[in-house]
Amino acid sequence: MTYIPAETRYDKMTYRRCGKSGLKLPVISLGLWHNFGNITPFGVQQSLLRTAFDNGITHFDLANNYGPPYGEAERNFGMHMLRDWKPHRDELIISTKAGYDMWKGPYGDFGSRKYLIASLDQSLKRMNVDYVDIFYHHRPDPETPIEETAGALEQILRSGKALYVGVSNYNAEQTAAVVKALGDLKTHLLIHQPSYSMFNRWIEKPMGDTGSLEDVLRREGVGCICFAPLQNGLLTTKYLNGIPADSRAAHDPRYLKPDAITQEKMDKVRALNEIAKKRGQELSQMALAWVLRDEVVTSALIGASRPSQIIENVKALDAAPFTAEELAQIDAILG
Ligand SMILES: NC(=O)c1ccc[n+]([C@@H]2O[C@H](COP(=O)([O-])OP(=O)(O)OC[C@H]3O[C@@H](n4cnc5c(N)ncnc54)[C@H](OP(=O)(O)O)[C@@H]3O)[C@@H](O)[C@H]2O)c1
Repeated sequence: MTYIPAETRYDKMTYRRCGKSGLKLPVISLGLWHNFGNITPFGVQQSLLRTAFDNGITHFDLANNYGPPYGEAERNFGMHMLRDWKPHRDELIISTKAGYDMWKGPYGDFGSRKYLIASLDQSLKRMNVDYVDIFYHHRPDPETPIEETAGALEQILRSGKALYVGVSNYNAEQTAAVVKALGDLKTHLLIHQPSYSMFNRWIEKPMGDTGSLEDVLRREGVGCICFAPLQNGLLTTKYLNGIPADSRAAHDPRYLKPDAITQEKMDKVRALNEIAKKRGQELSQMALAWVLRDEVVTSALIGASRPSQIIENVKALDAAPFTAEELAQIDAILG
């Protein structure tokens, strides 16, 4: 059936400016890393995307190797593009990435000009789009000179195949270096995509003279979209009484292994959940509000296996802002 988006889609979502750019992103964005490969029915994928957009999520995040198998999430998204999204292309921010292993041989991995440009061309074909809004270098490359990677990103911008560029998984020093290399080419780094959650606070930690990644992003006016803000689902109540059969740890444990769900973590989740209850929120909502508590974070990039999770998660900022006391209690639990 033809998709007609909800008239109310912009009524409740908050949009934050991405660093010092002209672009705004929804505070909750949807990633297609899981649940868009060949192990998820097409209809489930379709309802996830439609529910997201109907609730103000204008940003879908992909990468060349999301699947399984590699490329499949982009291929599936390309089908959704033809069926649902072509008429709404200008209301969407679509991103993809290259930087991890994608194809055999020396040209399908890391950060060379050869890899990034060829990979984006492949991604555009799979996704049935003429351009992406954001193209990321997915991880730092210890061997390719940063000037070459930055030059490839700038070339991609000039070619019109991406409107903005970003990096992911770069530490504070690497980020400062790529900002400088792009600056030398009169290009601005729009955004960084780091992991960040209550259980994973590395972006707050200072790194020598450079400061923390957050310091660099603030200083340079670079936006931040943090991935896995629910720590793959651990920061919800779903694992408190064991591993449910329909959870990621049970049905797709590639990145969330059952042995990562320790008693110690569950004790913390239980204590955090008590604070969430007092705030009148679900734990998932509190975990998202927490990563968004400082506006250096533009957006929290969630995954979802069912539409109800998206509906729950977009209400993350409905509760009152954190008090200093609540933040101190959370810090004490996290240790
Ligand atoms: N740049 C990078 O290197 C990188 C790396 C990883 C991810 N990412 C990006 O970040 C996105 C999100 O990553 P992620 O999926 O790990 O994020 P996440 O939001 O931490 O975890 C999402 C999972 O948590 C569960 N969940 C979500 N909402 C829930 C709720 N309200 N109640 C209970 N369970 C809930 C679902 O798993 P169940 O299956 O258990 O329901 C869902 O698939 C990816 O799609 C990708 O775009 C980027």
